[in-house]
Amino acid sequence: MARAAWGGERPEGANLNDILSGQAVDPGRLAEVYDLEHDEITEDLAFFREMAARHAGAILDLGCGSGRLFPAFFAGGASRVVGIDGSPALLARAEARIAADPALQVAAAEARLELAVGDIRSVQRPDRFAMVVVAGVISHLDGPEDALRALSAAGRHMEPDAVVVIDTIGPGGLPPHDLPLSVDWEREIGARRFVRRSQLTRRETPEGLRVAYSTLTDVAQADGTISRLPASFRLWYPSAVALSALAAEAGLEVESVFGSHDLDPLDGASERCIVVARRAASVLGER
Ligand SMILES: C[S@@+](CC[C@H](N)C(=O)[O-])C[C@H]1O[C@@H](n2cnc3c(N)ncnc32)[C@H](O)[C@@H]1O
Repeated sequence: MARAAWGGERPEGANLNDILSGQAVDPGRLAEVYDLEHDEITEDLAFFREMAARHAGAILDLGCGSGRLFPAFFAGGASRVVGIDGSPALLARAEARIAADPALQVAAAEARLELAVGDIRSVQRPDRFAMVVVAGVISHLDGPEDALRALSAAGRHMEPDAVVVIDTIGPGGLPPHDLPLSVDWEREIGARRFVRRSQLTRRETPEGLRVAYSTLTDVAQADGTISRLPASFRLWYPSAVALSALAAEAGLEVESVFGSHDLDPLDGASERCIVVARRAASVLGER
């Protein structure tokens, strides 16, 4: 996986649910860089389109970011999509994505696409969904307690037959050692030139791998001036076993675990860890 895909979150001292607000620079500018990297991730789109087709109905996208997955959900036949994210800057990018995409525009105009600022650990909505998606988000929470809150919130919003898809980096995609400051990518957009550097340090802990990730993005303008956008984030990567245990604690029954978006089985080399779960029968009985 490209290093750019580490796309990290929450710096020390920032609100847990707004990954960009506590940084030293304008969240809107960081959100633009975030989109430059994340929009390049397309290998999961067919998977989410297919999941939307298999689980017909409404989809709740917890930690939707700038709405990268929305087109895939609608292409799969989603009747309605609700995207929740803690970052107003990323939701502003999602609005721009909707405005630029005729199909998303129609969905929004028909109230079939809704965005809301919220904390996925405590979200409370009156509606229920056929599928809840938690893609690339668990690593940005503070650890097991927050993940349990987020998975419990996912469960509360599921229809009885619904699935939740928890998609995170697998063992083969994790950094095997610290990475020194180096260039991830360089890109020209219009008259501007972006150079992105990052570094990371890692620490094995009983609850999973902890990563301190810093990025430095230089944006050179046409007149030669350079804006430097530093950001730093702390990331957490639980093992598949730990994630499944948290899902069980949240009242979810794990149905399958995949190691890729092509549905390969999970092993030590898997780049992804994708857990698909349903509401546990015992929990459904309590409703
Ligand atoms: C790597 S992005 C993934 C975005 C999107 N799911 C995708 O796959 O493109 C992680 C997102 O989770 C959001 N996030 C992290 N913690 C959150 C929280 N506690 N509540 C709401 N959103 C959160 C971040 O703002 C960010 O947009």
